[in-house]
Amino acid sequence: MLEHLDRLAPDPILGVMAAFRADTDPRKVDLGVGVFRDDAGETPVLRAVREAEQEILARQTTKTYVSAVGNAGFNEVMERLLLGQQHGALASGRLRTIQAPGGCGALRLGAELIRTAMPDAVVHVSTPTWANHVPLLSNCGLKLERYPYFDPATGGVDFDRMLGVIDRLPQRSVVLLHASCHNPTGADLEDAQWRELLGVIRRRSLLPFIDIAYQGLGRGAAEDAYGPRLFCAELPEVLVAASCSKNFGLYRERTGALHVLSATPTAADAAISQLMRIARGLYSMPPDHGAAIVHGILTGERLRKSWEDELEGMRLRIQRLRNAAVEALAGACARRDFSYIARQRGMFSYLGVNPQAVRELRERHHVYMMDDSRINVLGLRMDNIGYFAEAVGKVVV
Ligand SMILES: Cc1ncc(COP(=O)(O)O)c(C=O)c1O
Repeated sequence: MLEHLDRLAPDPILGVMAAFRADTDPRKVDLGVGVFRDDAGETPVLRAVREAEQEILARQTTKTYVSAVGNAGFNEVMERLLLGQQHGALASGRLRTIQAPGGCGALRLGAELIRTAMPDAVVHVSTPTWANHVPLLSNCGLKLERYPYFDPATGGVDFDRMLGVIDRLPQRSVVLLHASCHNPTGADLEDAQWRELLGVIRRRSLLPFIDIAYQGLGRGAAEDAYGPRLFCAELPEVLVAASCSKNFGLYRERTGALHVLSATPTAADAAISQLMRIARGLYSMPPDHGAAIVHGILTGERLRKSWEDELEGMRLRIQRLRNAAVEALAGACARRDFSYIARQRGMFSYLGVNPQAVRELRERHHVYMMDDSRINVLGLRMDNIGYFAEAVGKVVV
């Protein structure tokens, strides 16, 4: 029965990872995989996570099932992390949260909920968007379309074109937005642009579906949630998929949440009951360990402070690397302006070089990035930024 299956080509990122591993040159630089790295090139377990984990191990008396919505305490602290302690949606009775296996699981749950509510819905995603948005949102049968977003000429958002297209979408279209640290471009909406977008979304009765996978790694935890906070205060319906992979460093623990704001408390009850059915049919229940860690951190005063400090350290490291990369590139490759890299947020930027240059960087200079020239700036270290910039200077014509 299975012998007619076609063998698929490996995911491009796996190819980049394998080529990097096989490269024996000590100068090699990995700008491919999207994980945080410290100046030693490691992705360490956060101190707050380790402590919370030890407390859980000491305290936990059972491994029995939790529930299809997951850890209720985690869901509550995630709502407050997203919206702040005082947000009107918290007491409105219209907000419901289901724990999910990572941000990916939350995106898939949201897609399934949309499909249940509106089988013909079209989800509009930015050009470009994170490659995995496509299967996560469309595998359940939803149709995907694109709206303009990135302007390579400025390294920022082409907001007028974006808004122009969104302003012509049919009513009840879904618009997928990145809350901050846009993957893969690093180009984010400014607060005033979120406000303008809100007006269009309201006027055209669109459903915003916001992906927040980097809260705290852009401008700060509250600032990175500006869009979701505004939309949840002003709109009847909002979906938010949150991930704890990057900001808590919990990648493999698969920790995330889907928040659903509905127009009424009755509609919210219906939505969460549908989500429980969907989760039961996909994986039954989410894994608890990561959620228990996040709950422990966000409810313990000392642990929370320790996590906030570590998160701020990660955020500042990203900004330092971005500034240092711009400075080094200006020295080694003055004929191109890379200053946009310092204005962008989060882990990713496009280097903006052609596929031939990407290949040359890989083959001649041992610098590995995605084929579309997306770089994870955290693959840089203070001691190899100069080497990286010189390599770029050699391939950019
Ligand atoms: C834009 C975006 N959304 C969501 C995710 C979800 O990640 P995870 O499922 O590992 O929590 C990621 C991870 O790279 C991402 O970049």
